[in-house]
Amino acid sequence: MENESLELRDPAIRVTMMPKDTNYAGTIFGGVILSYLDLAGAVEARKHGKDKLFVTVAMHGVDFIAPVFVGDLVSFYTRTQKIGRTSVTVDITVEAVRREGSGERVRVMEADVVYVAVDENRRPIPINT
Ligand SMILES: CC(C)(COP(=O)(O)OP(=O)(O)OC[C@H]1O[C@@H](n2cnc3c(N)ncnc32)[C@H](O)[C@@H]1OP(=O)(O)O)[C@@H](O)C(=O)NCCC(=O)NCCS
Repeated sequence: MENESLELRDPAIRVTMMPKDTNYAGTIFGGVILSYLDLAGAVEARKHGKDKLFVTVAMHGVDFIAPVFVGDLVSFYTRTQKIGRTSVTVDITVEAVRREGSGERVRVMEADVVYVAVDENRRPIPINT
């Protein structure tokens, strides 16, 4: 996905990173970004079953491309890549707008996350029901 096309889309989630989210190197802890990534992907998955419970079964191709800093405005853009029988695979691109300097837009992370629709016993169920 090109930066230009991302600018035209609404992110699933947009958040400003806070000092509490840093690691000992002073950048944002990767686990914090992963947590938002998971939430953003779930927003996309729910489009395919608003009344369904989706759980995360896998994260593939998780790439931390560039660091995220305190004060960056971070956007999580999602796109449905594949709809299976019980699963939905979501492409997620994460972009930061820097607080420092010129407000540059930087792609900081990419991943594909797989969600499975489950019933009340947490067993996979078809999405198209
Ligand atoms: C999600 C869960 C119910 C799936 O159980 P399962 O026995 O693997 O179910 P299945 O083998 O029938 O697979 C279900 C779907 O998930 C897909 N899937 C399972 N493991 C996968 C993996 N590692 N990567 C990609 N897709 C996967 C299957 O391809 C299948 O998709 P489809 O029906 O669209 O073809 C089970 O793995 C689970 O409960 N995991 C924990 C979920 C959770 O608690 N997540 C929160 C984070 S801790």
